[in-house]
Amino acid sequence: MGSKQVELDKIKQAILDKNICKDLADSATQLVFGDGNPDAEIVFIGEAPGKNEDEQGLPFVGAAGKFLDEMLASINLARPDVYITNIVKYRPPNNRDPLPEEKDAFLPYLQTQIEVIHPKLVVLLGRHSMNCFLPDLQISKVHGEPKKFRGRVYLPLYHPAAALYNGDMRRVLLDDFSKIPNILQKIDS
Ligand code: URA
Repeated sequence: MGSKQVELDKIKQAILDKNICKDLADSATQLVFGDGNPDAEIVFIGEAPGKNEDEQGLPFVGAAGKFLDEMLASINLARPDVYITNIVKYRPPNNRDPLPEEKDAFLPYLQTQIEVIHPKLVVLLGRHSMNCFLPDLQISKVHGEPKKFRGRVYLPLYHPAAALYNGDMRRVLLDDFSKIPNILQKIDS
């Protein structure tokens, strides 16, 4: 096992040992820590697991995940090329929005998870995810624009679930996604 995977496993174990968000942990089936390549250049951060994710223990495996896979394929990437996780790592009951204190409780673990992977680009899916890192921005104004903050490049995007029943949103997301290869290349230079 690679050393990054060992470090990630330690973070996962710390969440369990410290009983982070005990109420959520009690109502959920399992912890959904993250999935993909610990050496990825891109990390995607969603909001919280839904029903399918809670059942399978993996992020973005339901309908929104299917669209995320499609968007990855549109730029010649697949899940094993990237790393995918959420801010909140247990399913909130009835898929309610995560509470501010739940996001705050998981944030230090998410920060460490990102530090271990050390990606070039962090893609923030939806406003909850964006506001954890870029608090004062509005997703409708900044989606698709890379933002540098404390030495790291973030790309805020609409959440893929928002595009499921909205063709315009789908096109916007695919268009924003198409910018990713260029953004990565610019970070290199
Ligand atoms: N939506 C999210 O934000 N995360 C998931 O893992 C699935 C759906």
